[in-house]
Amino acid sequence: MRDAFTCGPPVYGENFFGRAALVASLLDGMLAGRESTLLIGESRIGKTSILRQLSHVLAPVDGTAVFFDGWIGGSAQRFAVELGRALDEAPGLQHRAARAGEKGLYPLLHLLESSRHRLTLLVDEVDGIVADKESARFIRSAASLGHKIVIAGSRIDPAQHETHPTEPPWWNVFRIQYVGLFTQDEANDLLLTLSERSGQQFTDGECAFLQDMVGGFPYFLQWLGKEVFLRGYRDCTTSQRRTLFQELATDYSLVGMLGQYFGGWLDRLDDRQIALLVESASGRGITPHLGMIQLKNRGLLVEDDGRWRPFSRLFGEFLRALPKGPLVDRKSVV
Ligand SMILES: Nc1ncnc2c1ncn2[C@@H]1O[C@H](COP(=O)(O)OP(=O)(O)OP(=O)(O)O)[C@@H](O)[C@H]1O
Ligand SMILES: [Mg+2]
Repeated sequence: MRDAFTCGPPVYGENFFGRAALVASLLDGMLAGRESTLLIGESRIGKTSILRQLSHVLAPVDGTAVFFDGWIGGSAQRFAVELGRALDEAPGLQHRAARAGEKGLYPLLHLLESSRHRLTLLVDEVDGIVADKESARFIRSAASLGHKIVIAGSRIDPAQHETHPTEPPWWNVFRIQYVGLFTQDEANDLLLTLSERSGQQFTDGECAFLQDMVGGFPYFLQWLGKEVFLRGYRDCTTSQRRTLFQELATDYSLVGMLGQYFGGWLDRLDDRQIALLVESASGRGITPHLGMIQLKNRGLLVEDDGRWRPFSRLFGEFLRALPKGPLVDRKSVV
């Protein structure tokens, strides 16, 4: 029997866990034709999966969701051509989008504006698009059309995007929605369901052990779950299982793999935020204050008895192991 954990590709349908309230509110917003949303979150937190899940849920209701991956980057012209192609099959556009896209972003916007069909556009990796001024303007306009909804995924906090002095920031027509960690219940549901599907359900103690290691970060939970089964969990006796988990928690290569992700996150934070994180990892955590709201929204800090601490034990260990010294040097440590 193969294990049921998915580790890497976006998940949807029966493989999509948690985030019920978030998905419901996005669907509500879409059906009501309300404002567009910008989903922001750390790499691997699950942004693309949310977009895929929305397509999946919407498909039987109305087949109008168009998924577009902004990872292509590049010029406005390239964006127009690619987006035109992606939109061409959408109802109400009568195969005119590809042709409009060949002519550029403006004709494409005009087409969207004149279409009476409400069209759902799911844009992933919007960071790859908005570096170009004209493309950023297009995203802003498309999101403002009222009856079209753009849900865009971004790793970078938009406040860190360069703004063009003569233009309003592209993101200020979006409702900002952070994608954070799973709650304990969501993490338990994922671990219990997927281990059961893999042929041997984790005990509550094992679920707690894994959550202590990596917190409610779905990708890391999936990663550990997969690893446990790869190491023969299904065929172990109870005491062998205990040893297996202990070995996992101290595995050098695994901790190194997580460190690479942690290092990547720090690269996108400023020195003040990094200093706060380091402080939060020391003994007693930190008391709440304004500067940490973003860190909390991003799921890097969690509350514990009125104090704020790193979201997991391994992240705390990573922060404590950072060399003391100028913050710039700390960032490059992996
Ligand atoms: N809702 C979820 N349920 C179960 N697993 C999830 C969920 N969301 C994310 N994952 C896990 O995280 C992995 C990465 O998810 P996804 O590609 O959606 O993240 P992302 O934020 O788009 O990443 P990136 O920043 O690299 O684009 C998945 O392969 C899966 O292991
Ligand atoms: Mg993604």
